[in-house]
Amino acid sequence: MNTVRDLSALRALVREARSSGTSVALVPTMGALHEGHLSLVRLARKDRGFTVVSIFVNPLQFAPGEDFERYPRREANDAAMLEAAGADVVYIPDAKSFYPPDFSTAVDVAGVSEGGEGAARPGHLRGVATVVSKLFLQVQPDVAVFGRKDLQQLAVIRRMARDLDFPIRIEAAPIVRESDGLALSSRNAYLSAEERRKAAALPRALFAARSRAAGGDAEARELERETRDELERAGLAVDYVDVVDPETMRRVDRAGAGTALAAAVRVGKTRLLDNVSMGEEG
Ligand code: PAJ
Repeated sequence: MNTVRDLSALRALVREARSSGTSVALVPTMGALHEGHLSLVRLARKDRGFTVVSIFVNPLQFAPGEDFERYPRREANDAAMLEAAGADVVYIPDAKSFYPPDFSTAVDVAGVSEGGEGAARPGHLRGVATVVSKLFLQVQPDVAVFGRKDLQQLAVIRRMARDLDFPIRIEAAPIVRESDGLALSSRNAYLSAEERRKAAALPRALFAARSRAAGGDAEARELERETRDELERAGLAVDYVDVVDPETMRRVDRAGAGTALAAAVRVGKTRLLDNVSMGEEG
């Protein structure tokens, strides 16, 4: 596995792989890797293509006062995990050359970016769409893999790729969870033992809501209200609980098949996201 920091070195490696007829896959990450990220790498490798994993804690997607500075950085450990998972290149761009001081372009995906995370973290999804556009243009992969854990991010990227004609297939990977249901996240490292215990209430409430809605066409507002109450009773501060169409991210009235229940909560200072697809198991 090669570790590259320089865009021209990255492009040379991708060009070389392409010249032997290999397809190219990209897995964008912010590092502090866990099994969720590695599942994306495995999915990317399924096509036997050349797999590039980027690690970049993107300053554009953090608002002032968020956790940009303290976001976990574990480059050596990440590289070892990626090597074991069979990645071909880890691309770790340098923030100064990635964003020149007069960088002034943004990619804004209207509508899809508006509710949920868009409302809770203004500018966050614009920062994500902008960095992912740059990574797409730098690597020019055939396939890019994202996790369903960040459901709205996935919707934004799908819409952006379609709207801007990026010739890239966007693949979605299922959420990888701990044994008590908590979705793996680099931010779980912030949780104290007590907070970690409380955090399990998030998947528990979402799965319970899905079971209650199973088979029927549950009323979305009622399901949201019940889920919110359950999360608050468990000591979690709720940012939102929304039944949405996962393609448009618009709230819908009925929690039927093809919709998703998405939530963000805070436990102490840590923000946790999760979602479940309605009318599906697992
Ligand atoms: P990061 O939080 O590092 O996540 C990188 C990718 O891993 C995302 O596609 C995310 O959805 C996926 N992922 C994280 N936890 C997962 C889990 N438990 N199961 C399955 N997939 C999981 O998301 C970002 O970085 C950034 O916003 C990025 C897209 C890299 C742009 O900066």
